[in-house]
Amino acid sequence: MAEEVSERTFVLLKPDAVKRGLCGEILQRLERKGLTVVAARMMAVTPALAGRHYFEHKGKPFYDGLVQHITSGPVLALALEGRSAISVVRLLIGATNPLAAAPGTVRGDLATAMTPNLIHASDSPTSAKRELELFFQPGDYQSYTRADQEFF
Ligand code: CMP
Repeated sequence: MAEEVSERTFVLLKPDAVKRGLCGEILQRLERKGLTVVAARMMAVTPALAGRHYFEHKGKPFYDGLVQHITSGPVLALALEGRSAISVVRLLIGATNPLAAAPGTVRGDLATAMTPNLIHASDSPTSAKRELELFFQPGDYQSYTRADQEFF
């Protein structure tokens, strides 16, 4: 097993999560696992930002629908830190297709559709760095120790 180093990852709660009132539920799952919220920003994603964030999907059949959805309402952008945060968050949110996502995961429990699938999370250290830089400035991050830190 890879060494469990502290990482910072990027999470985006999509417009369907905001409009369904599920931000608290999803954030609770991430915090209870032991991840620390170090930045949070409710915002609108412009078409330009959507294009930069999802550049690797340009030209795919679902791309236009993806941009339409991500720009359709407010999102909650988050930066989370913790042991192996990138892979831990990916495990907690489940497979991209909610119909294939395991029960107990965010998408497995709360979503059924592929495009409004509630949440995006970085899939690698390279993606995390790039995506965090798209949504946050260096001064947006807070540094603090959770009271339950000794258990994580
Ligand atoms: P996300 O993790 O934000 O990354 C790309 C998004 O494209 C994905 O979640 C889905 O919301 C959306 N999407 C829609 N159709 C597909 C598909 N067939 N394959 C992958 N992603 C898709």
